[in-house]
Amino acid sequence: MDKNIKNHILFVDDERDVLDGLKRMLRDMRKEWEMSFAGSGEEALEFLANTPCDVVVSDMRMPGMDGSQLLSEVLKSYPNIVRIVLSGQSDKEMILKSIGAAHQYLAKPCDTETLKAVVEQACALRDLLADDSIQGVVSQLASLPSLPTLYFELIEALRSPDSSMNKIGKIISKDVSMSAKILQLVNSAFFGMPQHVSSTSQAANLLGLDIIKTLVLSTHIFSHYKGSSKAGFPISDLWDHSARTAICAKEIYKTVNHDAKAIDEAFMAGMLHDVGLLIIGTNLNEKYEQALNLLRNEEITSYDAEKKAFGSSHAEVGGYLLGLWGLPQRIVEAVFFHHNPSKSSDKTFTPLTAVHIASAVEANVRQSESLTISCPINEQYLEHIGMLGHLPKWMEVCQKVLERQEENG
Ligand SMILES: [Fe+2]
Ligand SMILES: [Fe+2]
Repeated sequence: MDKNIKNHILFVDDERDVLDGLKRMLRDMRKEWEMSFAGSGEEALEFLANTPCDVVVSDMRMPGMDGSQLLSEVLKSYPNIVRIVLSGQSDKEMILKSIGAAHQYLAKPCDTETLKAVVEQACALRDLLADDSIQGVVSQLASLPSLPTLYFELIEALRSPDSSMNKIGKIISKDVSMSAKILQLVNSAFFGMPQHVSSTSQAANLLGLDIIKTLVLSTHIFSHYKGSSKAGFPISDLWDHSARTAICAKEIYKTVNHDAKAIDEAFMAGMLHDVGLLIIGTNLNEKYEQALNLLRNEEITSYDAEKKAFGSSHAEVGGYLLGLWGLPQRIVEAVFFHHNPSKSSDKTFTPLTAVHIASAVEANVRQSESLTISCPINEQYLEHIGMLGHLPKWMEVCQKVLERQEENG
């Protein structure tokens, strides 16, 4: 994006005092942001009809049109605008209701640094994608397609009297869509967690069963409307690939570093690395077919075929979405760059390295019909970060993990 063009942020709140407070608090940001303020949802929509904005930060509880209605309208009419909720702690239930319409949640009172960081991260990640058509598609997604078998498994476990948080968390982490939703929520500033939460067991412990159940239900309702059969590949295949990549990435990471948080992130990034395929497979059907044709007929990598067909790839789309949801940066980067890791500015061993190798090895073993799963190992990148010598060991680790998986059915 042109650095001279300022992002335009619209703040919406029915309380004058809150808007005045924001104005005071953000005075220093005037050099970087264009800022406007609206006293109601109706006023905000009127403003948006005449002035293009990049971000809307809205209160939830407002007379007339409430925040949830406003953000749904914004989603419908201006899908490219980043939508952020800034609301009181007592509005938790309302926030859960609007989970699909907002990208990020912030709790009042919110300090300047947190607000600035959330808005800036959202803008920066959105700017990573130059292709307007992809951006529009991503912004319109309220939920990712979900795997019904896992959903039922979870409901069953929730009913059973001996279901522990750990057990629930483990089941959820197997579901790409559910994991993303739950991590989005826990990591949003609204919950005020002192640190990023990288696993769903931890999330289940922190959130409690009732909220988890609500999330499960809303995710289920959203997935009901998804035409996932149009995806052009079996979603169960992608699920298998993601789960096995996650386990391999974790084991690869452990051979180099024992940082528990980073090991978890390698696992989560592995689990989520191909969510972009679900998105483009189900939403950009024709263009996805075009990419598949290129792949069948030309000597071309899956990444380049997607780039050619719609100017972006599932890696960027997935990374972008997870970024908007506030997932930890290392997970976002690992997803964003998993097909071309040398584009990342980080030249050290990270969860990205582990996911890149894990996904490539798993796809190779699988020889899937889902052509776009395949991904060649980038040896130049490994050389550049000084890890090429580890490759044989990593391949062996993956092989062992995958064999064990096969044995356990
Ligand atoms: Fe991929
Ligand atoms: Fe993959």
